Amino acid sequence: MGKKIYKSLPDMAKARNRVDLPVVKADEIAVPPRVAAFAQGRSYLIKTFGCQANVRDEEIMAGYLEKAGFCKANDEKSADLVIVNTCAVRENAEEKVYGEIGKFKANHLANRSFVMAVCGCMMQEEKMAEKVMATYPYVNLIFGTHNLPQLLNLLDEHLARKKDLVDVISYPGDIVENLPSIRLDPYKAFVNITYGCDKFCTYCIVPYTRGRERSRAKEEILAECKALVEEGYQEITLLGQNVNSYGKDFKDGTTFATILEEVAKLGIPRLRFMTSHPWDFDDAMLEVIGKYPNIMPFIHLPLQSGSDEILKKMGRRYSQADYLDLVRRIKEKIPGCALSTDIIVGFPNETEEDFQETLKVCEAVGYDSAFTFIYSPRKGTPAAAMVDGVSSEDKHRRFKELVSVIEKSVSAHALEMVGHTYRVLVDGPSKKNEAVLSGYTETNKLVHFQGPTYLKGHIVEVKITESHTYSLLGELCDDPLLYLAKDLSAKLHGEEASQRYFQALEAYRNDPSVAQARDALESAQRQFATSSKNGEDVSAKKKAYLEAKQHYENHPLVQNLQAAISDLKPLLEQVEAALK
Ligand code: SAH
Ligand code: SF4
Ligand code: F3S
Repeated sequence: MGKKIYKSLPDMAKARNRVDLPVVKADEIAVPPRVAAFAQGRSYLIKTFGCQANVRDEEIMAGYLEKAGFCKANDEKSADLVIVNTCAVRENAEEKVYGEIGKFKANHLANRSFVMAVCGCMMQEEKMAEKVMATYPYVNLIFGTHNLPQLLNLLDEHLARKKDLVDVISYPGDIVENLPSIRLDPYKAFVNITYGCDKFCTYCIVPYTRGRERSRAKEEILAECKALVEEGYQEITLLGQNVNSYGKDFKDGTTFATILEEVAKLGIPRLRFMTSHPWDFDDAMLEVIGKYPNIMPFIHLPLQSGSDEILKKMGRRYSQADYLDLVRRIKEKIPGCALSTDIIVGFPNETEEDFQETLKVCEAVGYDSAFTFIYSPRKGTPAAAMVDGVSSEDKHRRFKELVSVIEKSVSAHALEMVGHTYRVLVDGPSKKNEAVLSGYTETNKLVHFQGPTYLKGHIVEVKITESHTYSLLGELCDDPLLYLAKDLSAKLHGEEASQRYFQALEAYRNDPSVAQARDALESAQRQFATSSKNGEDVSAKKKAYLEAKQHYENHPLVQNLQAAISDLKPLLEQVEAALK
């Protein structure tokens, strides 16, 4: 294909801007006719790198593509449209992306109408789009994290003009609602509550790639979560780079604790959130987490470093003492709460003493899990300009040492679980063995156990029999059929029709005039039945009986109950069919 068209390119200075206020828009999702025609009989594939923000973006892009008429590809080879959704957080994340784009040259060679697109955080870096376009001539579209709602229009322009397009804008970002979405999991859902980040930790690229920190309206979040509960979702994770900054931009007193509590009240069986920054973590959040059993006792609390000196240079705005105090408060208010973290080793000029402080915190906290990274300079961030005297050898040695300290507490927690029973949300058959199911405990521990596949998406009790560092083995408690029965009974109780029935039944049982009418009917029935044997006047007794019957049947509470029973019938038929 001929010339490339650069509609817009990223700019780190603009990406740093936090002045403009966010605009809230609703997308109308119009499918351009040319795109709809192209999508007929064609399939798409999205390859996502990076964090949950990118996973959620994949679901939204899939929403747009399926609205246009594309179907999901069965495999890489057959895909007619491929989107590589990139991450820029560390250099090794970027290297994987290059390999991935390279793979699809084969699709381009085999298929003349093949469309290759690259998007995500890495494309928000300066000079990156030009580099990708120059290295991979078969890339047709490059767009950034702010451009998802333009996906179909960009594709339309590419098809119309037969040109390769780059459209990556750097700006603080807006909030777009009414986004389409095809969720990747039928039981576990991610819901964005904030976008972007204003923390500007000195090592991190995210505030530049995703714009200003902005909160979605509470009503939008609640409506999305309510719909998920109604669809039978078992778990919601509220997403944001810093969920505890939620609501700060509204200036009306709404906080993360407010939205967490309101979502918990919707009755989702499991509620999680990610990520919480130690800096804004207040006691109101802890109160809410402690109060609702459906908020999972698991907190991801990135430490980054245990050294006050390094924390200051990172711009994290808490000290080792603040962090340890917060951990103490968490453990006090939420007994049994599991803690996980992110740690960076080898930040510019991290000394051996600084590193020892990190190990000290890890030992004191006893993490249940941790993501550990070697510092990776990100162009345009303040830390990348710092002179670094630490050798790569020292960084790697520290990394290994850190991993072994972390593994000690992770294994110890796993070992403590052996012999105890935990509630596990079943993901489905495990990756390695079809006959084995896997799922996660409330504290986010991976468990494998044998059981029937229909338990996928159910919360079951599993007794832990064996522990490994990163997973546990267990045995399913209870008869699986019992779970099915419990499920059906929950369905019955949850449906509006059965709720109406139970209400009508209660009113019927508690009303004295109904009791009177029923007693009168029973007595008239008895007298009518015995009158024929005793040779008494049958017709008078019959008349009295019919009157009592009519009086009873016309009672408004009796009529209510009858109506509720007929509404319930189709539901009972469904239950009967499920049991068969
Ligand atoms: N918003 C989240 C994390 C976003 S990035 C938070 O603040 O916790 C996920 C993790 O990547 C960070 O917690 C950090 O540990 C790591 N990370 C970010 N930038 C990095 C860099 N330049 N080098 C190495 N690790 C980095
Ligand atoms: Fe990056 Fe810090 Fe923002 Fe997390 S809080 S996304 S580490 S800048
Ligand atoms: Fe990566 Fe962007 Fe997430 S840089 S970690 S995908 S916000």
